[in-house]
Amino acid sequence: MSPTQTGRPSYRIASIPADGIGPEVIEAGVEVLKKLASSLNTFDLTFENFDWSSDYYKKHGRYLPDDALTTLKKFDAILFGAVGAPDVPDHISLWGLRLAICQPLQQYANVRPTKVFRGTQSPLRNCNSGELDWVIIRENSEGEYAGHGGISHAGQPWECATEVSIFTRHSVERIMRFAFQIAADRPRKLLTVVTKSNAQRNGMVLWDKIAAEIAEEFPDVTVDKMLVDAMTTRMVLKPETLDTIVATNLHADILSDLAAALAGSIGIAPTSNLDPTRKNPSMFEPIHGSAFDITGMGIANPVATFWTATEMLLWLGEREAGNLLLDIVETVCENGIVTKDLGGTANTKEVTAAVCAEIEKRLPAKKV
Ligand SMILES: NC(=O)c1ccc[n+]([C@@H]2O[C@H](COP(=O)([O-])OP(=O)(O)OC[C@H]3O[C@@H](n4cnc5c(N)ncnc54)[C@H](O)[C@@H]3O)[C@@H](O)[C@H]2O)c1
Repeated sequence: MSPTQTGRPSYRIASIPADGIGPEVIEAGVEVLKKLASSLNTFDLTFENFDWSSDYYKKHGRYLPDDALTTLKKFDAILFGAVGAPDVPDHISLWGLRLAICQPLQQYANVRPTKVFRGTQSPLRNCNSGELDWVIIRENSEGEYAGHGGISHAGQPWECATEVSIFTRHSVERIMRFAFQIAADRPRKLLTVVTKSNAQRNGMVLWDKIAAEIAEEFPDVTVDKMLVDAMTTRMVLKPETLDTIVATNLHADILSDLAAALAGSIGIAPTSNLDPTRKNPSMFEPIHGSAFDITGMGIANPVATFWTATEMLLWLGEREAGNLLLDIVETVCENGIVTKDLGGTANTKEVTAAVCAEIEKRLPAKKV
């Protein structure tokens, strides 16, 4: 962040729309962010677009140029769309672009809030707005996605592959401390530690042990422990008993998609890939992927990107703007202007226009 001549903060955002519906939702997100910034007139946002994507990979044989990380480090935040193309294997695209940014930039805390928006419906019969309001904290630097393993006897009938999960005390301690702090800052002060230490008797036992140690630093936080399989049933049957949830890279990846669906649609859920030390820029993205089945149709739900934009503003310290944007998006949903995945008929541009119109309505005096 650097102050402008007017003395107000100015943030440089790197935008990487990438693949599928990524460009459609990022375009919507940038439009809304620009509208909000110019209407509030209390901070400046500038965007620089990077064409790193599966098309870039097919042209250059790699997803990122050599100086990509050095370039990204000059920005205050990164706004990311989605990566994945039908003609590139998913492990190439994920490791080539998204993980190639998250891991070296030490964005070790992946934060995934979920709630039922006003005016939308959970598929759960008895779950209303306010009864499902969670934050899932996902360990984002190692665990099952540490990339440790290999293939031996390739092509032989006895071909063998290993995928080794890595749990280091350093990384488990830092994600636990982060999760406990998030829980402590929320009204219910309740943290559920997800594990699978009955079957995975090494890494997951260390995970539980460190959770118990860090719990002593946070006496105000109530902690409970759930096996990941039982956690899925609790999320469906007793959503109101959960608040903040911490889980490994793989477990939280799966649970957060379930959470998004339980809240109404994967099209509303945001993700923050945070470097809590703030040495590196953090990266913000909707949870969903490239959505090949609806790419180019103009019907992608942009709400996940708007909520992502909210999380980015909050992380940058623009609390008023972040909270206002989320409230505006909920109001638009409440007014019934929603895409097909939420049971509506609006398209991406109509939802975006409705959010911009609501910004104008709320901030008429400050309009530029
Ligand atoms: N962070 C990422 O970049 C990321 C995350 C997940 C998947 N992917 C990649 O995306 C590709 C497709 O993966 P997938 O099909 O498993 O998951 P997906 O999230 O792309 O799609 C799952 C389903 O949800 C729907 N959907 C997703 N976002 C939506 C939105 N904003 N509005 C309305 N409907 C929406 C899709 O139409 C599809 O039916 C794969 O290449 C995968 O690797 C990338």
